[in-house]
Amino acid sequence: MTSFTPRVFSGVQPTGNLHLGNFLGAIKRFVDMQHSHECIYCVVDMHAITVWQDPAELARNTREVTAAYLAAGIDAKKHIVFNQSQVPQHAELAWVFNCVARMGWLNRMTQFKDKAGKNAENSSVGLYAYPNLMAADILAYHATHVPVGEDQKQHLELSRDIAQKFNNDFAKSIKGAGFSDGFFPLPEPLITGAATRVMSLKDGSKKMSKSDPSDLSRINLADDADTIARKIKKARTDPDPLPSEEPGLKDRPEAANLVGIYAALADKSKAEVLAEFGGSQFSAFKPALVDLAVDKLGPMGSEMKKLMDDKSYIDNILAAGSARARTIAEPIMQDVKKIIGFIRS
Ligand code: TRP
Repeated sequence: MTSFTPRVFSGVQPTGNLHLGNFLGAIKRFVDMQHSHECIYCVVDMHAITVWQDPAELARNTREVTAAYLAAGIDAKKHIVFNQSQVPQHAELAWVFNCVARMGWLNRMTQFKDKAGKNAENSSVGLYAYPNLMAADILAYHATHVPVGEDQKQHLELSRDIAQKFNNDFAKSIKGAGFSDGFFPLPEPLITGAATRVMSLKDGSKKMSKSDPSDLSRINLADDADTIARKIKKARTDPDPLPSEEPGLKDRPEAANLVGIYAALADKSKAEVLAEFGGSQFSAFKPALVDLAVDKLGPMGSEMKKLMDDKSYIDNILAAGSARARTIAEPIMQDVKKIIGFIRS
């Protein structure tokens, strides 16, 4: 296999109500990767429209995700921050991948089944083909590493299958074009950390979600300190004190969730948190969690608000990032066309 330079790509959908799950499961880990890797972080507006979005809201939400990236500490000068629709190679490569991926592969995607539910007949074709676009996002940059939440693992496996099938189907042409062995890397998911899956504050068996009707079920990145404190105090718990070791969290989903959140915010392991709080009642643990959450999320929330007041600043970052993204994706797409046999001028 050809060796590829390590490169990170990931994306967040601008569908509103950014919450703690998006932060701990994705954005915070994007921030951490900057020190060791070249990173490309995308606001995936084309993924968002797989379900209908109000145009004014879509634009607002695209700026909000960008503001969250920046407020969390992503350096848009060193790395690339942009929105998907400004780089046409995503759509171009996605079409090619529509012709590489098999129906049977997509039929197995659990997220489509969950999202479409009984309404599959009335879902957009885009929602069904969404994982192919995601593969194109990653592979248009020959990205090798993809920090994502647990729920995206299956889509990453599909991206690898697509890359592999393209490499096999066009093996001869790929060699002929001068690539010794394989054109696309097989991208690896990076699913690490104490809170790769943040659960609802009201029900430890459900994912924290922007669409939960109860706002108390989630901490929004835009929440102020008082709101964060109130939501944590009202979070569901059980009557027992915290265990001293991780196995004690088994069958205690709410306790496990709050400990996971604490650990992720404090950059500690769950074991370390339990070593400190084992034996404590929630009446003692919750105030500590409130302090930590307000300390970490408060400044980020205010920075996001400040950035959101300056639309042209954000739009300029996205324009500059998109231009840089195109300089990477354009030559790769040119090679794809050559490999496939498309005439180019
Ligand atoms: N599907 C991802 C989500 O819903 C977002 C996404 C789109 C993405 N393209 C990507 C994540 C490429 C990683 C890499 O969370």
